[in-house]
Amino acid sequence: MNKFTTVSDIGDLKKAVAEALEIKKDRFAYTDLGKNKTLLMIFFNSSLRTRLSTQKAAMNLGMNVMVLDVNQGAWKLETERGVIMDGDKAEHLLEAIPVMGSYCDIIGVRSFAGLKDKSEDYEERVVEQFIKYSGRPVFSMEAATGHPLQSFADLITIEEHKKTERPKVVMTWAPHPRALPQAVPNSFVQWMVAAGYDVTVTHPEGYELDEKFTAGAKIDYDQDRALAGADFVYAKNWSAYADPNYGKILSTDRSWTVDSAKMALTNNAFFMHCLPVRRNMIVTDDVIESPQSLVIPEAANREISAQTVIKRMLESLK
Ligand code: CP
Repeated sequence: MNKFTTVSDIGDLKKAVAEALEIKKDRFAYTDLGKNKTLLMIFFNSSLRTRLSTQKAAMNLGMNVMVLDVNQGAWKLETERGVIMDGDKAEHLLEAIPVMGSYCDIIGVRSFAGLKDKSEDYEERVVEQFIKYSGRPVFSMEAATGHPLQSFADLITIEEHKKTERPKVVMTWAPHPRALPQAVPNSFVQWMVAAGYDVTVTHPEGYELDEKFTAGAKIDYDQDRALAGADFVYAKNWSAYADPNYGKILSTDRSWTVDSAKMALTNNAFFMHCLPVRRNMIVTDDVIESPQSLVIPEAANREISAQTVIKRMLESLK
């Protein structure tokens, strides 16, 4: 595997989950695979889970790990070609990327959407430049339009907990005080449809996601109707995708917060969220603390999804 930015990069999902569950049984079975190999993790944005789980995954495989926080101690990087660099950005990505590639064997990149220029975000300009110019296998640690390591961990978690072959999975928008990217919801819907689940997305009007990601999912503007009979409820906020409101907050309606009354509409559903989560905006305390909450197991599975991806990349280096 030379790149991992979207669901198609992982191939057969059943095989990928089976491989992940094998790794989970013995995560130190491949400690020789990464010997003398180096993972460089580059963060343009903050992280708790991705940073720790991906580093742990690489260490499980015997790798050395370097972490660069671009906004803390590195030169500020220009990302656009043709810019006259007379501002505060001292280095261009076009030099920085091959230099970084020369120090490592595999690169992980986190680069969120700016939410100002939809074309720039949806062309994935930063991650695509790493793929083009680094000369190394590159995986996304959440980019502008997707978070595949999270969705892979979510899929593993659902496979571990589902009680029917084809569960009803409902992703619901929920309110948040800040404008958030569409990366997690885009990926989640795309991966769950690819897994063959019965997928419904519910959100207020105006929050329609890019159809490229939601193809195959039902869209329902009535949250209560969508939640009826759900086996898994995945809560997430995102800002508007559709023009002319790209990146804007259109609603802060707290009636969309997932509470025990909403969960009572479901088939005793499990509650999921990628974290970090704003309690009592996205989900109430009692729901996230309930026995049906999977937020900790899904975060723990981030180590497993990352290890599966890095293992495949190491195998492709041979
Ligand atoms: N879910 C997730 O990616 O968490 P972090 O932003 O903390 O890495």
